[in-house]
Amino acid sequence: PSGNSGTDGDPRYDFVVVSNRLPVDRVTDADGNSTWRRSPGGLVSAMAPVMANNDGAWVGWAGGAGEHLDPFDHDVFHLVPVELSAQEVERFYEGFSNATLWPLYHDVIAPPEFHRTWWNAYRNVNRRFAESAAATAAPRATVWIQDYQLQLVPRMLRQLRPDLTIGFFDHIPFPPLEIFAQLPWRRAVLEGLTGADLIGFQRPGDAQNFMRCVRRHMGITFRHGQAEIGPEVTSATFAVPDPAVDPEKPATDTPEDMSAAQGSWNLKVAAYPISIDVDAIREMAAKPETRQRAQEIRQELGDPETVFLGVDRLDYTKGIRHRIKAYGELLEDGKLRVGQDVMIQVASPSRERVESYKVLREQVEGMVGRLNGQFDTMEHTAIRYLHHGYPFAEMVALYLATDVMLVTSLRDGMNLVAKEFVAAKSDGTGRLVLSEFTGAAEQLKQAVLVNPHDIDTLKERILLAKNMPQDQARRRMRAMRRQVLTHDVNDWQDKFLTDLARMRDDDVDPRLG
Ligand code: G6P
Repeated sequence: PSGNSGTDGDPRYDFVVVSNRLPVDRVTDADGNSTWRRSPGGLVSAMAPVMANNDGAWVGWAGGAGEHLDPFDHDVFHLVPVELSAQEVERFYEGFSNATLWPLYHDVIAPPEFHRTWWNAYRNVNRRFAESAAATAAPRATVWIQDYQLQLVPRMLRQLRPDLTIGFFDHIPFPPLEIFAQLPWRRAVLEGLTGADLIGFQRPGDAQNFMRCVRRHMGITFRHGQAEIGPEVTSATFAVPDPAVDPEKPATDTPEDMSAAQGSWNLKVAAYPISIDVDAIREMAAKPETRQRAQEIRQELGDPETVFLGVDRLDYTKGIRHRIKAYGELLEDGKLRVGQDVMIQVASPSRERVESYKVLREQVEGMVGRLNGQFDTMEHTAIRYLHHGYPFAEMVALYLATDVMLVTSLRDGMNLVAKEFVAAKSDGTGRLVLSEFTGAAEQLKQAVLVNPHDIDTLKERILLAKNMPQDQARRRMRAMRRQVLTHDVNDWQDKFLTDLARMRDDDVDPRLG
């Protein structure tokens, strides 16, 4: 704690991360006692040292419904839980976040649903996050808001606390103007985001999509990613609109949401491709136990010639059906053979109460069942399908046991699995088939790139990866490893936070000096 106290005496923090989920998972032991464990994933491990060195706090949802938790400490984190009611879980999380924004921002692969009740919940919950961040942050603190669930928080927080420096990072794609325009509350979302000092995206293309939307719907223009939100723009854009003359007025917006935040600020938009905790993966991959386990996995599979692997949340954006279709046709064509070849598909359960995820699960399990029914022998299975998550150590062993990694997303903000696979393969073996529709494809140019919608080419590329001469495969892997090893998640957060600090130093509002 910085030594500053809020009006209610709570400690206040110089650096605050705000994300939908807290960086801890609840674990319940055999006696029914529950404790917390640090969540896996690059973002969490990258933030840990920053939190420890900067009097940091993390505001987020603990995952339950209607449950009140007081702020608590867990390893280096000071955690500030935000409560969601059961209805808010349904409308804000499952509804607006994951059945409106998620499909809309991923090329409408599934049809987004637009419901005013969901939007209301989204706005209310975003306000609660903003209020919690406002009560947690020390004077002139830095606040970093994460991802699409919290796009209204930057502006709401600036209204509450004009002294703060506010960053936002969007982990998922930002859609083209023509798709974004479908959103009935498009302007309110852009107003929410533009309350930040710095907005980061995965790809330059996402940043460009966003700037086009802001220009079209808010009339703000950018030069080299920089815009100034001055008093004239602020009041022109955020004055309460007359519904009669402004057809774009969001149906459920109340005047307070449209009121101008005080002052002027610089807004910068840029791409910061996220990465992984490279050291953690390399250390795990170097352990004798992990290598031993990788060998065991291959033995358990009957020592096949080629192990193919897919690892995804069970999500329709991941192209799992396309991958299975291509793999099944290759079996049918006799180009791949059960026993000699095996595919492992780890599909971790995700958003299971959302309808399109239920439908996808049925489809994927139907496809796997049909293929295995057709091709399995007493000894061997065509596709080993695993509908559960695995601990980190087992995942790294799986990467080591794999010859060909299949990443066939139809749209993906980044895809960290591709980068993890590359980081794990310290012996320089392994081939990566990678969808060109992932953010990762912009960094891993030596992968076997593919358009997963094109099933014939996908089949060709899968065979190309399998049969690629050793020296060529190693050359490609070496180049990809150079990229990943020199751009880890610490570099990512460092670049973002350095640019954000620069925005603070350039602050245009003399009242804050
Ligand atoms: C994606 C999103 C994250 C989200 C994660 C898991 O990576 O960008 O914001 O946390 O999926 O999804 P969940 O709905 O379980 O939080």
